[in-house]
Amino acid sequence: MDKFYVTTPIYYVNDVPHIGHAYTTVAADIIARYWTRKIGSENVFFLTGTDEHGVKVAQAAKDADKEPKEYADSIITRFQEAWKILNVNYNHFIRTTDPLHENVVKEILQNIYNKGYIYDGVYEGLYCEGCERFLTQEELVDEKCPLHPNKKPVYQKEKNYFFKLSNFKDQLIELFQNDTYQILPLSRKNEILGKLQSELQDVSISRAGVSWGIPVPWDTKQTTYVWVDALFNYYSATRFLENKEKFWPTDLHLIGKDILWFHTVIWIALLLAAELPLPKRVFAHGFFTINGQKMSKSLGNVISPQELVDKFGADAARYLLLSEFPFGEDGDFSFDKLKIRYNADLANGLGNLVARVAKLAEQSGLEFTDSEEKPSQEKYDTAIQQTNLHQALAVAIEQVRILNQFIDQKEPWNLLKEGKKEELKTVLEHLIKGIKTTSNLLYPYMPNISETIIEHFKGPIITASQPLFPRIA
Ligand code: MSP
Repeated sequence: MDKFYVTTPIYYVNDVPHIGHAYTTVAADIIARYWTRKIGSENVFFLTGTDEHGVKVAQAAKDADKEPKEYADSIITRFQEAWKILNVNYNHFIRTTDPLHENVVKEILQNIYNKGYIYDGVYEGLYCEGCERFLTQEELVDEKCPLHPNKKPVYQKEKNYFFKLSNFKDQLIELFQNDTYQILPLSRKNEILGKLQSELQDVSISRAGVSWGIPVPWDTKQTTYVWVDALFNYYSATRFLENKEKFWPTDLHLIGKDILWFHTVIWIALLLAAELPLPKRVFAHGFFTINGQKMSKSLGNVISPQELVDKFGADAARYLLLSEFPFGEDGDFSFDKLKIRYNADLANGLGNLVARVAKLAEQSGLEFTDSEEKPSQEKYDTAIQQTNLHQALAVAIEQVRILNQFIDQKEPWNLLKEGKKEELKTVLEHLIKGIKTTSNLLYPYMPNISETIIEHFKGPIITASQPLFPRIA
């Protein structure tokens, strides 16, 4: 791998950041940090940002009595703050209201139009403003969108431009089947291939009744459909930012399973129409509930990144997000469960290991030479490279368990008491080496604490340490 380009979805600004957004963004940061260590920061590009056009955002701005752009400006700082407190080190924060992005979208759309893949027609049917997409009759549950049962789908009949999605059906099937564009996990690939078996209809890519968005270049009375505008962010950033061209195509699009159709069928067909090189892979993670319930404002169970960081600290918050259930599957969070895991894995596990070894090293009065410890575990590398973030973490945490067990077996405090310096030194050196290796493995997940640990065990003199993860009652 000579370069790595990873993206998150760009989040709608109709809402402030919550741990759903944090989940994907922290995961992308972990992957970006992993690759940065492997191939250098100049070869990694990590893009996140906000999706600021469309009906939903325009409505939220209206409710807040603001102009859409002014409203978006006030929300994006919330996202940027959230990523800062979570130690997310993105390279660029893209906004779809950036004129530089808008220009690229117009250019590509015009290009697709010139190639004959866009025609005008009339759209008649239902639109879910929550999803920002058209719904078919078959998708409705009790006449409502299953994902937004509180929002009545809006009937519309208007002139729209349509994209000839149906032209690409066979090509898409082939590209997905042979992993030219790899859809992970495998179950998601099968889900998309299954859906592609039924008839693939052309899609509307413009709106007549919506003004908040990018005007269609050849007919400015129409506004570009928000999803088309949004998807192209991944490409536009590599065009308008300096020295980023080399990063196209994307190596990994990280998304939640809710937006998989857009990131497979629609996205790849648009790129095929524009004759652009295709991204390599998309990974759709699962969705989580809070205490078994869907996270929602009306239920009052939305957890903000700030709350999580206040309770556990940034590094532990990142760890907890990824350790609770396998990345790719659905799961559940609750403060109670997070607290149990924090105390078990971090306070009693890693924290206790570091504290015990540092204290023994101090008491021993011995000196230790520093050695470079690079993560080399094959299992760990394969797991991260396959986006099995939960599994890679398990490899690291297993090391912690083994090292704690090693201390219990060797009972170095007895060696200290009995003055067996040589033996004690061998045991401590093994532990220090193990701690450093493990910290390196944990680095993408817990960058600050890992660096603190590595620095602490640098030697030659090692002193007792402050508790890294105070127990939470
Ligand atoms: N703006 C579109 C994406 C455009 S990308 C070209 C969008 N935005 S969103 O604000 O609704 O964000 C959706 C994403 O938030 C999901 O794909 C997922 O990454 C994250 N999640 C939101 N709630 C979540 C959970 N409850 N669980 C896991 N991820 C969640 O869709």
